[in-house]
Amino acid sequence: MRLTLQTSPLSDINADWLVVGLWEKDSPVGTVALLDAKLGGLLTKLREQGDATGKVKELTPLFQATGITPKRVLLVGLGPRDKADFASLVAAMATAAKSLSTKPCPRVAVALPDGAPIAAEAILRACAHGFYQGSNSAGIRKNANERTPPEEVCFVGADAALQDSVRRADIEGRATNLARELVNMPPCDLYPETFAERARAVAAGTGLDAEILDEKQLAAERMNALLAVARGSDRPPRLIVLQHRQGGNKPTLALVGKGVTFDSGGLSLKTTDQMVDMKCDMAGAAAVLGAMQAIAELQLPVNVLGIMALVENMPSGKAMKLGDVLKARNGKTIEVLNTDAEGRLILADALAYAVDRRAAHIVDLATLTGACMVALGPDVAGLMTNNDAWSQKVLAASAAVGEKAWPLPMFPHYREMIKSDVADIRNTGGSRYAGAISAAKFLEEFVGDVPWAHLDIAGPAWAEKENATRESGGTGCFVRTLVELAIRY
Ligand code: BES
Ligand code: MN
Ligand code: ZN
Repeated sequence: MRLTLQTSPLSDINADWLVVGLWEKDSPVGTVALLDAKLGGLLTKLREQGDATGKVKELTPLFQATGITPKRVLLVGLGPRDKADFASLVAAMATAAKSLSTKPCPRVAVALPDGAPIAAEAILRACAHGFYQGSNSAGIRKNANERTPPEEVCFVGADAALQDSVRRADIEGRATNLARELVNMPPCDLYPETFAERARAVAAGTGLDAEILDEKQLAAERMNALLAVARGSDRPPRLIVLQHRQGGNKPTLALVGKGVTFDSGGLSLKTTDQMVDMKCDMAGAAAVLGAMQAIAELQLPVNVLGIMALVENMPSGKAMKLGDVLKARNGKTIEVLNTDAEGRLILADALAYAVDRRAAHIVDLATLTGACMVALGPDVAGLMTNNDAWSQKVLAASAAVGEKAWPLPMFPHYREMIKSDVADIRNTGGSRYAGAISAAKFLEEFVGDVPWAHLDIAGPAWAEKENATRESGGTGCFVRTLVELAIRY
């Protein structure tokens, strides 16, 4: 999919479809008014008839539009104009893209909506992102894929000054789809070594520095908690470290991702129902890889370290056992009381490593707990932190790109939940309550004094079913938040 800009007006568009957004309860303004005139007042008439209301997710195809050059027009409901934000525009355009990409439509033109209470630059990125979101499916191994993304999406009537936004939207769209593709890959094809190969290819293609630590190097680096999780699997672990250094002597932002390429639970084996989607348990690492690719392609003037901890969590004769005590990289001892709480074990070492690599600020992303979905539902990430000022910056970045995250508290008394009788800490919270927070309290033990924000993306990383605005499977969530954060860093 190629994104382009056309500054000339609506009249000379050469496209299979022209996509036009309609606000709810608003008479046509700007581009839409122009189009209405060219169509002999058809849009006004459709609105009066109640056929095109502008309600969210409403699609009205006009197959035989006369008076304009595009072959067909697709009217898309945008919802109320005063309530429009980045997320609502992404959703509206994704609905349109889902519909159009069910048939080949090489050239799509999009009239950018006028008058939303956000910057024209952000409107363009939101619309572009909707197209990326709506025109790629989870069916990566189908012989006949059910979607054909347009070859070109052209934003018409746009200011030439928006060219930079087009570039950013293209880079972020491809980065998000990289993360989605990795999450959707079957675990027989995607495991620590193949994820690492993919990361190496991304680094080679974008000029990132890549270090990939194998099991011997991980042992030399004292990453015993990560190695303990990996031991149950025939697939060896990898720690991927990508570095983007274009910020001179500015501080380093570290992005750390959980990369469990398959989570069976280990000896604390999951049931089939719990295990069936557990190829998604590397979505944190996938988001970090996507973000690093985008940050490098955008050549942002910052220093960013991307750390991805890759393991497979399996039961076997070599697997870690309940009651085992592990010594993590920072020297803390951990009693293992549930081998299915493996994400925090691998992140313990990865976070300590980020601290040792002199990260000034850390964000980690992990499909860490089912409890976070109980707390916030499947579409919202939990945000936990040791530093409110830093977490506010992460929240602001996520809000700016329409990704939903919400804070959960980190009161000191929650620390009680991870006390162990035999070791410094234990890897479970010991009760059904506040499971997302006890996991975060565990992680906090490994970040020292470094400002750190933890995003539990167990819900939003994976869409069990498709809906009008998105496909099922990996969502690529938080790639754009990380890029926005790096831009602001
Ligand atoms: N990968 C899971 C969490 C998860 C659950 C992600 C559902 C996506 C959807 C994680 O490793 C896990 O198993 N967590 C346990 C922790 C418990 C054993 C303390 C959980 O949430 O049940
Ligand atoms: Mn688990
Ligand atoms: Zn897991």
